Amino acid sequence: AWSRFDVLRREAPVHWNPEPAPNSGFWSLTRHEDIVAVDRDAETFTSTGYVNLEEVHDDDLAELRRSMLESDGVRHRALRKLLQRDFGGQTLKKYEEFLRGLTEATVDAALRRGEFDFVKEISADFPIQVLARMLDVPARDTGRLIAWGNRIIGNTDPDYADVLLGDAESDRYKHLPFRSPASLEVFEYGRELARQRRGGDGEDLVSRLVNRVPVDGEPLTATEFDNYFLLLVVAGNETTRHAISHSMLALLDNPDQLALLQAEPERIPVAVEEMLRWASPVYHFRRTATRDAELRGRHIKAGEKVVMWFASGNRDEDVFDDPYTFDVTRKPNDHVTFGKGSPHFCLGNNLARMEIRLMFETLLPRLRRIDRAGDVRRVRSNFVNGIKQFPVRVETT
Ligand code: HEM
Repeated sequence: AWSRFDVLRREAPVHWNPEPAPNSGFWSLTRHEDIVAVDRDAETFTSTGYVNLEEVHDDDLAELRRSMLESDGVRHRALRKLLQRDFGGQTLKKYEEFLRGLTEATVDAALRRGEFDFVKEISADFPIQVLARMLDVPARDTGRLIAWGNRIIGNTDPDYADVLLGDAESDRYKHLPFRSPASLEVFEYGRELARQRRGGDGEDLVSRLVNRVPVDGEPLTATEFDNYFLLLVVAGNETTRHAISHSMLALLDNPDQLALLQAEPERIPVAVEEMLRWASPVYHFRRTATRDAELRGRHIKAGEKVVMWFASGNRDEDVFDDPYTFDVTRKPNDHVTFGKGSPHFCLGNNLARMEIRLMFETLLPRLRRIDRAGDVRRVRSNFVNGIKQFPVRVETT
């Protein structure tokens, strides 16, 4: 994929990709500058509709699945504001101790094994445990949330849902077909929590969603609640997982960078930005043109789909020197991993940054040596840049 992006950035930065019916084709944006221009201009390039390349051709289903990610304007702002403070750096500080305890427990249990799958033992469980805490759901339910998330996000990769689960677990979820049925299970799960917490004074995110009225005065509809809950579970789970796996892989492949961070751990916060650029866990988001527009001399017509390839923007040689070099000291680091300038800019960016930082602050001092112990397997998807298997062998300090 990377070399294709290189060619497009150079030769056809605003490129029309035809698609077979029932799809209608889409524009591919691969340059950092164009991605930012479109992401900023939500009036011309709307999120209302669908924001992935993949289309939902069933209108009822699309409506059932509409979250704030797929809406714009006043209502989007009101929905976002509802939890904005809960995801702000200041509020998140109160989770730092909990998170550190969690990374320590996760890392210590994994390292004791000596040889293990990094995805399964380190990256997969930890981000969802954090969300479980914020949503106040029992830790024993995280396996289910992971399985559902894999089904929804990894829906183009049939064996992904099973990869992270033991046989017993995976048998329990065999009956779930891809995408929306798994969403429906998440909806059911969230609704039950909402029923229990309505009218209460809980501080968890579910209680906030059911008991706080958005700034425009309209309480959440049932569909808005369903999808908010789903978005929190899915958005904050896979993405952070892949960021952590890719970062470890990059450190393993670049021992000088690993050694530098181990010798000078105070560099980790800056390194996190390079990890995010390097990993680009989300390949793309999509918009739809609301009116005719022109970009680099190409005419985009109202109604056409425009895809921002964040992963390509993060390798744009006009913005990043040696973009294919993993440089943990890179600064400035103007990556578009969470989008840029958009009203939809990742709500969880502070949380993701903190999770990645704490994970490596915990892991690196304990590692004397880390090697591959088998093949790395990638998730088959044009949406998440994921790693589903990463066997390692470690020696601890
Ligand atoms: C939105 C990426 C972690 C929650 C987004 C968007 C991107 C993104 C690119 C913008 C979507 C658009 O423009 O249409 C990532 C990456 C992550 C990450 C790469 C990890 C490295 C998280 C976490 C959460 C989260 C931990 C917490 C639950 C959200 C939400 C939105 C969002 C709720 C929608 C915001 C809106 O529509 O206004 N994310 N995300 N994300 N993210 Fe993240």
